[in-house]
Amino acid sequence: METIAVPRLLDRLGLSAVNSGAATGRWIETYGAELVSVNPATGEPIASVRTANEADYERVVQEAVSAFETWRMLPAPGRGEIVRQMGEELRAHKEPLGQLVSLEMGKILTEGLGEVQEMIDVCDFAVGLSRQLYGLTMHSERPFHRMYEQWHPLGVVGIVTAFNFPVAVWSWNAAIAAVCGDTMIWKPSHKTPLTAVAVQHICHRVMERNGLTGVFNLCMGEHGVAERMVADRRIPLISATGSTRMGKRVGQVVAERFGRSLLELGGNNAIVVMDDADLDLAVRAVLFGAVGTAGQRCTSTRRLILQRGIAEAFVDRLKSAYAHVRIGDPLEAPTLMGPLVDEDAITSMMDALARARAEGAEVLCGGKRVDRPGYFVEPTLVRVRAGMQVPLEETFAPVLWIYEVDSLKEAMELHNGVPQGLSSSIFTRNLQTAERFLSAAGSDCGIANVNIGTSGAEIGGAFGGEKETGGGRESGSDSWKLYMRRQTNTLNWGTDLPLAQGVKFDV
Ligand code: UN1
Repeated sequence: METIAVPRLLDRLGLSAVNSGAATGRWIETYGAELVSVNPATGEPIASVRTANEADYERVVQEAVSAFETWRMLPAPGRGEIVRQMGEELRAHKEPLGQLVSLEMGKILTEGLGEVQEMIDVCDFAVGLSRQLYGLTMHSERPFHRMYEQWHPLGVVGIVTAFNFPVAVWSWNAAIAAVCGDTMIWKPSHKTPLTAVAVQHICHRVMERNGLTGVFNLCMGEHGVAERMVADRRIPLISATGSTRMGKRVGQVVAERFGRSLLELGGNNAIVVMDDADLDLAVRAVLFGAVGTAGQRCTSTRRLILQRGIAEAFVDRLKSAYAHVRIGDPLEAPTLMGPLVDEDAITSMMDALARARAEGAEVLCGGKRVDRPGYFVEPTLVRVRAGMQVPLEETFAPVLWIYEVDSLKEAMELHNGVPQGLSSSIFTRNLQTAERFLSAAGSDCGIANVNIGTSGAEIGGAFGGEKETGGGRESGSDSWKLYMRRQTNTLNWGTDLPLAQGVKFDV
């Protein structure tokens, strides 16, 4: 087993030389408060970064605005070439960056590496996309007229990310925004500053090599920076990941100034397991969905809806799988579940469990803090009934609320009966049941799966959800359209001026 030498790791990622929390083409000296990054597996500090104050923020925005003037005029495939090089740099740094993600955020190493792979994948996707930013052409109703639409770069994009995917979610936005011709300012979570510094360092290397500056910018701070970005008219799009409470505020403030927001907020994702399901697959999927990343993905499985015929046997199998989950240092190979991110996360989990017990919920296993340094808890199964309030909330922890139902209809009422709408899945071997789940009358989520769990989406699809999840879509498919402005063009190449709809207007 390899133990990670932290100073060497920081060195490999260029972190030992940096104490700044803000950068444009280069690191700028920042004057905000010191931000300490804590290892959630020990509760000990790893390193600290000096955040940006208001004046530092202003410098970063000005650079991003001015870089946009040139970046938008570089042909999109040329921008794709820069993103291709970013993908290559990420490939070269996959191991140390994945280790740093695990060290700072607490997810196990295979997931830390998977997160970096997700960055590489989206860079590859964006490179292809840089030659496919297609607009439509329309047949004009007027003779000798041509009508078409084109997509132009939007401007500076503000990217606000959460601790749980400290770098992948940035890349979903950054790689796409970059090929679309936008410059950007990243405000990472204050819980994961080091991974952000490491990624920014990688950006610098690529940008320097190409004689560019100001495209990928970083501005770290507590909430002040995000508040400023959200209200800043020079930033036409804010893409924010986080809680529903945060998203509501972002949505309101951005709408007030007629900006655009792309919100990826809370999820309360359920897996429905029908009597006819392949239970081996279902147990594995539930385990990964509910215990993976210690339940700290937006897509984590939080609710399990079991059809009565298999419910008891399924819970037994799950309990025995839970008993075998190795909890410990996320960087050690046999560990399946690392810590929660901080003390507050433990408090919210314990609070949710206490309130659920008061409503009559029965804790089947887990439910306690693990007695060791750091922020470890036991993965927890809880039997609940329809009508209870706590399972309707997003608890960002490895807690799975288990319901029993008789029919698909009852399952769907429970399934859709929460305020959030991110990810969902059903396990069944029946084609009609599967199609009903995916139909317009089925799952109301942005992501709906059959015979795979709720988490671990690929980058090729549009990622996001409905209702209180915020309605945004990022990453694959045609999410790029949000990062550009559409222009409809009509061009008259004739010698007359016919008006649309046959209107006559001659003197
Ligand atoms: C998130 O938790 O914010 O689908 C993103 C998944 C990952 C991304 C999760 N690819 O679980």
